[in-house]
Amino acid sequence: MQVNLVQAIALIKRGEVVAMPTETVYGLAADARNESALKQIYAIKQRPANNPLIVHIGASKQVLEWAKEYSPLAQRLAAAFWPGPFTMVLPAKADVSMIVRAGEPTVALRVPAHPIAQQVLQQSGLGLAAPSANKYTQLSPTTAKHVEDSLGEDIPVLDGGACKVGIESTIVAVEGNQWRLLRLGMITEAEIQLVAGLPALTENKNLPKVPGQHLLHYSPKTPVQLFESRESLIKAAETEASCAALLLGEGRIPNGKTFNLPNNPVGLAEKLYDTLHQMDALEVAKLLIEAPPKQSEWLAIHDRLSRASHKLN
Ligand code: TXA
Ligand code: MG
Repeated sequence: MQVNLVQAIALIKRGEVVAMPTETVYGLAADARNESALKQIYAIKQRPANNPLIVHIGASKQVLEWAKEYSPLAQRLAAAFWPGPFTMVLPAKADVSMIVRAGEPTVALRVPAHPIAQQVLQQSGLGLAAPSANKYTQLSPTTAKHVEDSLGEDIPVLDGGACKVGIESTIVAVEGNQWRLLRLGMITEAEIQLVAGLPALTENKNLPKVPGQHLLHYSPKTPVQLFESRESLIKAAETEASCAALLLGEGRIPNGKTFNLPNNPVGLAEKLYDTLHQMDALEVAKLLIEAPPKQSEWLAIHDRLSRASHKLN
């Protein structure tokens, strides 16, 4: 059900959930200080209660309403990457709901760049808990239609067109002067390292992990197989009774629908989930995907594709 900005803000203020666009993917937003609204998010998504939500805020000056520590490192990262597709996990203030942080001692914060998300945040004055607006483990939505396909037509949706970044934010945990990468996104580890001035922690010291990241995330319903080379993909296609393929750049498979995406990480990320949603809707037996090159700028795409193909690869 489509709603406008005024209706969306009114719904959120009275403790309801609303799906809204962000630059990464659509989020299912609710007042992060209203526990009955937070419970609705978990119920609608069918998300386990031990998987915490990101709190979206309008500007970095609100960080200390949620975090009890805002270290010089966290401040530098905020100045470099906010507003944008970047989330920081920081030590939580005691009054941050245990539901939004799923019992963790930390809270995840993000200042989104999307103008509509910004308007909802500015005009409501609230912090908004917003996980991706899809059922648990399914593909994230990048259009209002994807939201309705996953969550049903009764969900109020603020339509802001297709998301530009296209995959979920990069998540980093910061404690004092150290940081760790929790989820890859289009802001790369190298970019963060440049601003941080030191490399990420890689060992599992005392910093928090992402509790909800299991391998089945971001999966289409149709089995997905990844191929290191175009030749091996085409050979496999020839033996499949019904399939569709995703290729980087031009080309096609002889015996099924082919989806051609830009052969660069930014262009591909923008279209990736929409393409996977379209491929899934074909109801073929298998989706064949050409794996991108191994260079570091493709790592976030590799992460999502390997999760999507987890059942077969
Ligand atoms: O781009 C995005 O981040 C989108 C848009 C809507 O902002 N949101 C999103 O939310 O992807 P979600 O809930 O689908 O993924 C957030 C991830 C989850 O894996 C969750 O476990 C992790 O963030 N997370 C949230 N709070 C955390 C915390 N306190 N410590 C560690 N991980 C946390
Ligand atoms: Mg999600």
